[in-house]
Amino acid sequence: MKHFITRFLNIVASFYDPFLKLTMDEEKFRQEIIGLANLRSDERVLDIGCGTGTLVLMLAETLHSGHIYAIDVAPKMIVVARNKAQKEEKKIKYRIGSSIALPYEDNYFDAVFTTLLFHHLNFEGKGKTLREIYRVLKVDGKYISAEFGKFPDNFFHGIIFKFTRSSGLLHGLYPIELIDQNGLHIEDEINGPILGGDHQVVFRVLKKDIG
Ligand SMILES: C[S@@+](CC[C@H](N)C(=O)[O-])C[C@H]1O[C@@H](n2cnc3c(N)ncnc32)[C@H](O)[C@@H]1O
Repeated sequence: MKHFITRFLNIVASFYDPFLKLTMDEEKFRQEIIGLANLRSDERVLDIGCGTGTLVLMLAETLHSGHIYAIDVAPKMIVVARNKAQKEEKKIKYRIGSSIALPYEDNYFDAVFTTLLFHHLNFEGKGKTLREIYRVLKVDGKYISAEFGKFPDNFFHGIIFKFTRSSGLLHGLYPIELIDQNGLHIEDEINGPILGGDHQVVFRVLKKDIG
């Protein structure tokens, strides 16, 4: 857990859900992400950086005969997520682990999700994560991502951008060139909600390049 945002979220994991409820229409946000995946009820899916597991609990409503896996590097997030799944009697296969070395077989998942994960990763981590997503996805699998888009080009963001270039905090939150380099391409892209006043979230559906 290198990134300071990740370490911070691990400490405040039990406040994460109430914070999201106060700041966004979480139900709508997650339903839009799930809608993009166009899932069959028997598919095998993975949520990387699952946090407190709200998305996978909603996925469990759709995937009646499917298999749901979720992984997060922050142990306290996984504790909260496991408790929620237990209360709702949902079978989710949780693991503590990192996106840069996923503990799953090659060509294993029909769909992979990441929601607001990439701003926790430095450049190397972003590239390794995309490479791992490519590896664990089936040939015709889909990768659904919801990540911050470009930040506003103003003085404030300019200063932060300058000083966080290698941290991944603002610079290249979602780097297109890394998608190309790691054998993926974008099939669909739409704007999601604006969070925190001016942070546009972008929803994307990506697939593996063929050939
Ligand atoms: C902003 S939260 C988003 C959580 C969840 N996806 C959601 O939509 O609410 C980012 C999550 O990514 C996790 N994370 C950060 N770096 C990670 C990594 N390398 N591998 C797996 N999870 C990571 C953090 O612990 C945190 O739970």
